[in-house]
Amino acid sequence: MMRGLFITGTGTNIGKTVVSASLFHRYRLLTELRYWKPVQTGFPEDDDTATVGRLARCHQREICDDGVRLKQPLSPHLAAAYGGVTLNLEALIEPSRSWPATCRALVEGAGGVLVPLSSTHLMSDLISALAIPSLIVATSCLGTINHTLLTLEALRTRAIGVAGVVLVGEPNADNRRSIETYGNVAVIGEMPRFPTVNCTILKRWAETELDRANILESYLCR
Ligand SMILES: Nc1ncnc2c1ncn2[C@@H]1O[C@H](COP(=O)(O)OP(=O)(O)OP(=O)(O)O)[C@@H](O)[C@H]1O
Ligand SMILES: [Mg+2]
Repeated sequence: MMRGLFITGTGTNIGKTVVSASLFHRYRLLTELRYWKPVQTGFPEDDDTATVGRLARCHQREICDDGVRLKQPLSPHLAAAYGGVTLNLEALIEPSRSWPATCRALVEGAGGVLVPLSSTHLMSDLISALAIPSLIVATSCLGTINHTLLTLEALRTRAIGVAGVVLVGEPNADNRRSIETYGNVAVIGEMPRFPTVNCTILKRWAETELDRANILESYLCR
């Protein structure tokens, strides 16, 4: 069975891919990481696998490029309908069945936790089927307390573990504290808005600022 983290978020375009790349910079010297995007919509214009590969200068072995790739930049259930396919949970999780035991997975979702995959399944069902804990990416800005607490509740209701939260955007101490207090969860990183996002900038930030308390060590290094 697969071990690692499911990188989810409070919505689309929130920073999941950038945080995934940052996790390579922070943890790849300590453990064997492999990124996997099971469902990519808006492909090939949007290609998170290629973006992580570029932002973390990934070796081929650090990427699993299996997965469903859909043309329309829509929710997976809709993009699949336009593409004339139905997303099947069993087929989707197939790569996890032969996952190398030494490899820790960084699995990136599409959108947030309750995004539909099909008429019968949500993204949360994919996380449950993979049976790995989650890491939530959220913005630091107004509205984040509600969105993050809703996401936490949806995950915990389904018995999906939460390793922590990464906030992206202008650091906001009040929002951070509220999420930690009301959500009973650790904020393991506050990533500022960078003028440009590139490998060097992410590496410097990840090495000095991401998960300073080593909270993810127990998920990624054991
Ligand atoms: N810290 C940051 N500073 C500046 N720009 C950022 C930062 N984090 C993310 N971005 C930009 O915001 C956009 C969305 O980020 P990202 O692709 O990581 O979101 P996502 O949650 O993975 O989206 P999707 O739901 O499509 O997978 C990208 O253009 C990315 O370069
Ligand atoms: Mg992404």
